[in-house]
Amino acid sequence: MASIVAASAFSSIIASTPFLTPSSSSLFLKTLTLRPSLPSNRLSFTSQPLRHHMARATLGLTHPSNTEPHKVSFAAKEVDVAEWKGDLLAVAVTEKDAAKNGESRFENAILSALDSKLGGLLGQASSEEDFTGKLGQSTVLRIASGLGSKRVALLGLGVSASTAAAFKSLGEAVAAAAKSAQGGHVAVALASHDGLSAAAKLSTASAIASGTVLGTFEDNRYKTESKKSALKSVDIIGLGTGPEVEKKLKYAGDLSSGVVFGRELVNSPANVLTPGVLAEEASKIASSYSDVFTAKILDAEQCKELKMGSYLGVAAASANPPHFIHLCYKPPSGPVNVKLALVGKGLTFDSGGYNIKTGPGCLIELMKFDMGGSAAVLGAAKALGQIKPLGVEVHFIVAACENMISGTGMRPGDIVTASNGKTIEVNNTDAEGRLTLADALVYACNQGAEKIVDLATLTGACIIALGSSIAGVFTPSDDLAKEVFDASEASGEKLWRLPLEESYWESMKSGVADMVNTGGRPGSAITAALFLKQFVDEKVQWMHIDMAGPVWNEKQRCATGFGVATLVEWVLRNAS
Ligand code: BES
Ligand code: MN
Ligand code: ZN
Repeated sequence: MASIVAASAFSSIIASTPFLTPSSSSLFLKTLTLRPSLPSNRLSFTSQPLRHHMARATLGLTHPSNTEPHKVSFAAKEVDVAEWKGDLLAVAVTEKDAAKNGESRFENAILSALDSKLGGLLGQASSEEDFTGKLGQSTVLRIASGLGSKRVALLGLGVSASTAAAFKSLGEAVAAAAKSAQGGHVAVALASHDGLSAAAKLSTASAIASGTVLGTFEDNRYKTESKKSALKSVDIIGLGTGPEVEKKLKYAGDLSSGVVFGRELVNSPANVLTPGVLAEEASKIASSYSDVFTAKILDAEQCKELKMGSYLGVAAASANPPHFIHLCYKPPSGPVNVKLALVGKGLTFDSGGYNIKTGPGCLIELMKFDMGGSAAVLGAAKALGQIKPLGVEVHFIVAACENMISGTGMRPGDIVTASNGKTIEVNNTDAEGRLTLADALVYACNQGAEKIVDLATLTGACIIALGSSIAGVFTPSDDLAKEVFDASEASGEKLWRLPLEESYWESMKSGVADMVNTGGRPGSAITAALFLKQFVDEKVQWMHIDMAGPVWNEKQRCATGFGVATLVEWVLRNAS
């Protein structure tokens, strides 16, 4: 009974991405169509004065440390939990599992078996600490003998757990318990799995694994002192073994590395992560997975040739020049059946421009996170470069720039002309994200994309509407809505559909141009989406996701990596 029937494993590297050093980022670049075999996009021809970049990239003399990546390995096993040997055995317990009979004994088979090996200690502790299996409850016991494990943790799942989100949270709780116990070798088991189908067991295992990896991740690149996590291995017990679960765990590892990358991009301050550095990070993804990616980075001059006046207007005030990023994923073999595009807002900083962000609650000090959409897109690219799905072509598009204030910048009232020829009266320079997305969406349509999803930290109004953990979704296509909502159920990320109310377009009319860029405060997440719609071909299925709320975790003071998991799931659902 105690023998290991089988084990399936993967390792997840909790990566650290050291962004560019000043000398490397200073070598910039005219255009680069990256050929797959080139090691990086730092090609020999340069078209812009370099001193400028060098000065900006070293502002504050900060460079992220190149710390050793932290590695956690996962294995799926079928073993007797009481015999499992290691530092911490975590048992996930629903309220029903935690119920006791008349003699204060657990009715649940696994808990009662563990409890009798421990002479009733588990039952006593759970009563004394009032552990009833409620969501988020946890209790950890250090035990001298009785089990193979040094510690046992009961982690509450609530009334029942069935969603990816619930099992991701369980993984995060495992990471937290491992951290406080300084445990290196950890196991997770569910006290009961009534009604879990074979498919549900697989997705449960992968949700627990990604939750654990992401819960363990700490971004210490900008700290001079930091404590490393002790977590080395996680055994997932009772959810099957063999090639299928192995594949799912590898998927969880690939996906998590994309989420971690996205978090690191967002956490990086704007003095380090300039538009140029973001472009180099994108190019590095293309060269790391050069069998499936090509990269094209356009500089301001080339964007001008493409008539991207809306995007260039936003970029005009900054000393850090814009970089238009386009990665293209093609499957390693076989035909392409569908072309997708992922478009991300990439404002490495949003000061508001002349309509400067002022006053309490404007969050100007957090506006490094205004490239969260692009981080989701590039995080998805990193994950997909490892997963290599067949049958899909995917374009990853970011019009990266910085919204600053200077004599060369856009004034309120200026009229800009987008690359589809439409004119925009900029009545508010702080509604800059939509101006950059306008040209990015036109570009995406020109790539022949049949379905486009854009992600953006677009409006404060969306945070007011949905709070900080739910993103707003806008799309005229019910089919695309269904695809992405199915994907978000698997990813555990929360989305809520909001209306594209056409009658609100009234407020976006201009006396002198085709439209204004803001229509006042009421419904401004909706009018922002209606604005974007002006730049998308009608025959293309398009969705806009406003992720201004979920980009950031206020409690942890860190980026969430929101969007990566849903995008990857969605692309895989379009793969063949
Ligand atoms: N990046 C902001 C949106 C934002 C604000 C995200 C707060 C997260 C927190 C965007 O560029 C912006 O400034 N939007 C304005 C639009 C307004 C001028 C119509 C907003 O939401 O206030
Ligand atoms: Mn803004
Ligand atoms: Zn913005």
